[in-house]
Amino acid sequence: MDRVAGGVNGGQLAVFNSMRRRATGEGIPVYLVGGPVRDAVLNVPTRDLDFVLIGDAPALAADVADELGGQATVHPRFGTATVEVEGHRMDVVTARKESYPSPGSLPEVSASNLDDDLARRDFSINAMALPLSGDSPEVIDPHGGLDALAGKSVGTLHPSSFADDPTRMLRAVRYEQRLGFQITTDALSEMQQAINGGHADAVSGDRWRQEFQKIFEEDRAAEMLLRGIELGALAAIHPVLTDGKGLTRLAGEGDLGPNDFLVALAGSLSAVVGDGFARRLNLPTDWAQVVRDTIALREKQSAISGRSVMPSAVCAALDGLNPDAIAASVRFTDDPQVAARLRRYLDEWRLVSPALTGDDLLVMGVPSGPMVGEALRELTSAKLDGLVSGEEGERTLVHQIILRGS
Ligand code: CTP
Repeated sequence: MDRVAGGVNGGQLAVFNSMRRRATGEGIPVYLVGGPVRDAVLNVPTRDLDFVLIGDAPALAADVADELGGQATVHPRFGTATVEVEGHRMDVVTARKESYPSPGSLPEVSASNLDDDLARRDFSINAMALPLSGDSPEVIDPHGGLDALAGKSVGTLHPSSFADDPTRMLRAVRYEQRLGFQITTDALSEMQQAINGGHADAVSGDRWRQEFQKIFEEDRAAEMLLRGIELGALAAIHPVLTDGKGLTRLAGEGDLGPNDFLVALAGSLSAVVGDGFARRLNLPTDWAQVVRDTIALREKQSAISGRSVMPSAVCAALDGLNPDAIAASVRFTDDPQVAARLRRYLDEWRLVSPALTGDDLLVMGVPSGPMVGEALRELTSAKLDGLVSGEEGERTLVHQIILRGS
């Protein structure tokens, strides 16, 4: 208990203490469950506090939010609620029983007791609860979670766990790689059966994307994705996800974001296949654009490689592509000259514009219409390539353009 309290602060600590007071003083059967219990046993920092209540979770969440000046959001379908206090969000769920009408579908749920609530969970290391009443409560561990933590293993509670919820394949590699554990042999063969059964197809793009998103936020995301490739879990989600070359470059690197992983996963695909990948995961517009423009950039590489490529030619090839896609692609570019041009484009060339404006050009006698834009583009190119400098140089070029056009 002290480990949990010592590992959280601000809104999380306030909610934790409120739940403890209610459990101890009012006898409310509320428990800490899943990740925070696992992390407290391991004595590692936890991210979220998850609570389970034998009773009406939305009502408890509303009371706690009222007491602490926070906010409660209710998700009636699952009898769950989120309390937000001082920017920290915590889930409070009604203890429930789940059954899956078909593999990969969302579960049917009904309110139940703690045993059923722990039995519905993914892995034994996540199927433990800590009562919040009393000073030194014992961990409730009906599925051998403490032994699994001691043995550093990620194992399921029953053989159809991955078939029920195929997103657990990505969760398994996430915990394995985050904690330095091993997925058990049984769990590996259960995963294989779920893959062979084609159950990943039944999971929506949004649900898969959310699991990818959780991985992208992890320190060892590249290793997690590589492990997912090795086990065939990624190919089960989309058949093109079999190539780990890009991810291998990211392994061990710090400070990576979603764009880096998207480029590593999809950068070597063709445009059509890349679109299929983006559609399968229902990627949001900005991520889909990174995928599309990374592929477009790869296809344009020949235009910006070679010895004498002028900056204006680099801009002509790259303008219109998403700068985030270009930035994330630099580390995957084998040709150092191209990589250097991409960097200069991002830092310098794409920001170049003429000193003269469209209005200046009109005053100088450029006829209004498309010629103004064309002249501005020519000025920009000339400035990029060092053919003109300063406002006077630009004016001279504009006079030449007018003479040429008349
Ligand atoms: N859970 C599950 N099956 C899933 C998702 C979640 O059984 N597909 C259960 C697990 O018991 C998990 C809990 O719900 O511990 C909370 O899920 P989540 O917040 O995603 O994970 P945490 O265990 O809190 O892990 P993390 O440290 O990654 O937040």
